[in-house]
Amino acid sequence: MIDTWAQIGYLISAVCFIVALKALSSPKSARSGNLLGAAGAVLAVIITFVAYKPDHLAAILVALVIGTIAGVVGSRRVQMTHMPQLVALFNGVGGGAAALVALMELSHVRDGETIAAIATAFTILVGAISFSGSVVTFAKLQELMTSRPVTFPGLPVLFVAGILGGVALSVWLVTDPRVWVGVLLCLVGLALGVMLVLPVGGADVPIVISLLNAFTGLTVAAGGYVLGNALLLIAGTLVGAAGTLLTKLMADAMGRSVFNILFGAVKGGSTLGGGTASDRPVISGTPTDVAILLGYAQRVIIVPGYGLAVAQAQHVLRDLVEELHSRGVKVDYAIHPVAGRMPGHMNVLLAEAQVPYEQLREMDEINGDFKSTDVVLVVGANDVVNPAARNTPSAPIYGMPILNADEAQRVIFLKRSMRPGFAGIENELLYDPKTTLLFGDARESLTKLLAAVKNV
Ligand code: TAP
Repeated sequence: MIDTWAQIGYLISAVCFIVALKALSSPKSARSGNLLGAAGAVLAVIITFVAYKPDHLAAILVALVIGTIAGVVGSRRVQMTHMPQLVALFNGVGGGAAALVALMELSHVRDGETIAAIATAFTILVGAISFSGSVVTFAKLQELMTSRPVTFPGLPVLFVAGILGGVALSVWLVTDPRVWVGVLLCLVGLALGVMLVLPVGGADVPIVISLLNAFTGLTVAAGGYVLGNALLLIAGTLVGAAGTLLTKLMADAMGRSVFNILFGAVKGGSTLGGGTASDRPVISGTPTDVAILLGYAQRVIIVPGYGLAVAQAQHVLRDLVEELHSRGVKVDYAIHPVAGRMPGHMNVLLAEAQVPYEQLREMDEINGDFKSTDVVLVVGANDVVNPAARNTPSAPIYGMPILNADEAQRVIFLKRSMRPGFAGIENELLYDPKTTLLFGDARESLTKLLAAVKNV
C-alpha cells in the first residue's frame, strides 16, 4: 500500500487526464488539454519514483532518457500527414510495455489470487495483440509493406484457432501461473495481432489504430489491477473507452461496420486502396478562369481534404478566403468527419493556419447549404465528395455520408492529376459539365488563384 499523499497525487493526475480528455474534444481547448494531460503524466511518474523507490534506478533512468529523446525527436520531426503511423507506434509501445510488465509480475501471482491471475493473462494476451497489430499498421501506413488487404487461404481458420489457443492458455495461466505459459500466451497474442491487421485495407488502417488504442487502454487498466495501481486503472479505462467510441464514430462516418472493416477482405468484400487514372475528357481551367468564378460568387464553400495537408496549403487557403470575405463573398469551410487521414485532421490543419473556428462547419450542419451555393472549391479532397457513396452499391465507400458538393451551381477541384482518392475509385463529379479542374499542387494553385482573384 502506498502513502496517502501519493494516493492524493495520483487522484490529481487522474483528474488532469479526465479534464484533458474533455478539453481535447474542442479545437479551441485541445492545446491546453494536451498540456494538462502531459502534466498529469509527469506528476504520476514523479510520484511513482518517490513513493515506490524502485530498484535498478540507474537502469530505469537511462531507459526514461532514451524514451524521452525518441519521443520528443519523433514527435517534432513527424510530418502532419505521417501522424497516424506515429500514433500507431506509440500505441504499440504502450501495449507491449503492459504485456511485459504483466509477464514480469507472473512470479508474484500467488495461488488463490484468481482475479489477479485473470487480469495478468488478459494483459499479456491483449497487450501482445496491440503491440504486433500496431507494428503492422505502422508498416502499412509507412509503406514498408503493401497497404492493400493481405489474406491467404486458411487465415480465418488460423485466426479462430489462435483465439481458442489464447483462451485455453489464459485458463491454464490462471490455474497454474508459470512464466513459460505466459511467454507462450504472449507469442499467440503477437500472431493474433498480425492476423487481425493484415486483411485490413489502407484507408481503413487508421480505424484499426483507434481499435488497437482501445485494446491498449484495456490492457493498461488490467495492468493497473495487477499492480494495485488505481491511476493506471483509471487512465487505462479512459483510453479504452475513448478508443472504443472513436472507433465507432469513425466507422459510422464511413458508413461501415467495425466487423466489415476488420474482416471485409477475408470475406472478399473490401477493395480499398490502389486505383488507376481514367482518360475520359474533363474541363480544366486556368487560375484566372477560376478567380472570375470565385470573385463574382455570393456564396462559396471550401471542401478541404487530404491533398491540402500534403501540399501544406492551409495558410494560402486562409489568405484566399480572407480576400474573398473582404470582397463581400460569404465563405465557409465544410468539414467531413473523415477528410484527411486521421480524426480531426482538417480542424487541426486549419487551426494551425489560424482559421476562425466559426468558419468551420460540420457536415450535417452545412450539407443543406450546397443547393444555394454558387461555387464549391474542393481543395485536395476526393472521396468525401464522391457521389458513388450514394449511387453505386458496389463502391467500397457506398453508404458513407458525403458532402453534397454536387448540388452546388459550380464545382472546382484543385488536384494534381486524375488519380483517385484513397478509396481507389473514380469520382463521377470530376466529369460533370459543371465541374472545372485546376491541375497542380494545391499550394501553387492557390497562390496563383489568390493573385488572380486580387486582379478580378
Ligand atoms: P482523398 O479521397 O484521399 O483524396 C485526396 C485528393 O488529394 C486526391 O484526389 C489527390 O489527387 C489530391 N492531392 C494529393 N496531394 C495533393 C497536392 N499536393 N495538391 C493537390 N491535390 C493533392 O481524400 P479525402 O477526400 O480527404 O478523403 C479521405 C479518405 O481517407 C476517405 O476515403 C476516408 O475514408 C479515408 N480515411 C480517413 C480517415 C480519417 S479519420 N480522416 C481515416 C481512415 C480513412 P492527386 O493525386 O491527383 O493530386
